[in-house]
Amino acid sequence: MRDLEISNQELSDIAEEALGLAKSYWASLEGRRAYPSTTSENTTELFSRPWLENGRGREILQDFKSIAEHARPGTGRFFGYVVGSGEPIGALGELLAAVLNQNVTSWRSAPAATSIERAVVGWLAEAVGCAGFTGSLCGGGSMANLMALAMAREAKLPANETGVQPCVVYASEQVHMSIPKAVALLGIGRKNLRLIPVDDKFKMRTDALQAAITADREAGNVPIAIVATVGTIVSGAIDPLPEIADVARREALWMHVDGAYGGMAALAVPEKFQGLSFADSLSLDAHKWLYQPLDCGCLLNRHPDIARTTFSHSDDYVRILSEDPTEAFAFFEESIELSRRFRALKLWMSLQFHGRGAYREAIRRDLDHAQILAQTIALHPELERLAPVSLSAVCFRHRSKDNEAILRRVIARGRVYLSNATINGQFVLRACFVNHRTTPDDVRAIVSEIIAAAEELNC
Ligand SMILES: Cc1ncc(COP(=O)(O)O)c(C=O)c1O
Repeated sequence: MRDLEISNQELSDIAEEALGLAKSYWASLEGRRAYPSTTSENTTELFSRPWLENGRGREILQDFKSIAEHARPGTGRFFGYVVGSGEPIGALGELLAAVLNQNVTSWRSAPAATSIERAVVGWLAEAVGCAGFTGSLCGGGSMANLMALAMAREAKLPANETGVQPCVVYASEQVHMSIPKAVALLGIGRKNLRLIPVDDKFKMRTDALQAAITADREAGNVPIAIVATVGTIVSGAIDPLPEIADVARREALWMHVDGAYGGMAALAVPEKFQGLSFADSLSLDAHKWLYQPLDCGCLLNRHPDIARTTFSHSDDYVRILSEDPTEAFAFFEESIELSRRFRALKLWMSLQFHGRGAYREAIRRDLDHAQILAQTIALHPELERLAPVSLSAVCFRHRSKDNEAILRRVIARGRVYLSNATINGQFVLRACFVNHRTTPDDVRAIVSEIIAAAEELNC
């Protein structure tokens, strides 16, 4: 039987082999299918196996080839959902973070990691025009949105001690599913989430927002928060932040901005994001439009006092024994989790390795790619775009064929991957560009693949 402790020599050999696998995977990306040719039967047969009494040793690395073959690859031709491309320096950061195995609960538990996380959170805030906001990294936009609405609830109608009282939250009809989920989990109840109609550009209508708030007040309901979205999940629409901020200010409501998809683009096109700094809280996702390996969400806010009222439930065994405010700092006093991993190291390494300009240009290229796709669609009368291209998501359809069948064909052909959405009740094809590996040729392949798949359906 093996022992958990292994020799330095064996560790060094296996580390070298694992890095070799990573290097050949990255080198192979260009030639890989955009989606693996696999089924649940394949993956179950390959990967459902017992945990053996005796260890297999270094041989386990041999599994990597088939895992990679049955995994969604980070190629430049994956355009589904909002999936960042997994920048390799960030991946090396993940490895080194795991090697250090810090528990980033507080400065006392993880001195360097805590200072690094606070620094990179400051970089993100500054990059999107919200200098001075504080916050923390988390698993993703859903977790950030949940924490934001917990703060909103505690700021406007404190519930931590006495339990939730009836209250109302407002968001547009295009809001991401993580908001109804958060409202449900926080005991506010999905029926108290008002879905405000959007205009023809899929932006929240502030006249309808104001009317809904007024109607609620007249009915004796208690509004607490407005969720604006910058980069709606379907079409990338940006809600009108300055107007929403006016309503929030007038009505004394918390303004949360869900920037999980689009927020980081404020680094490249700040003019589209005016009013972002009026937010009380802002969700960002570095694993989306900052290309970082999963996972890396972030919640920024400008009310650390409310973050503490909301999340501070310290027990004696984690009591901080320092008067120095930096050494006394604890993430668990300002966010949900206690044990937390060292997410910040990948950002620390990747953002500094490439520099701010490289990220700005990569985001600009993604925005250009969306415009190239829109222009290519316009050249094909059999295709029709169904929403304006506000950021990097493009929604379109074939005018005369079954679009669901086209999408299935496109995925099976494996040359590009798109996802789908519903716009005005119609099934649409959706391509989203948050991928530093994508080239203009990859973008042009989208329309040729759609046309080829549509033709195949004739046979
Ligand atoms: C607008 C928006 N909000 C929230 C989320 C949820 O983010 P995550 O998947 O990181 O939890 C997404 C994910 O696509 C999103 O697009």
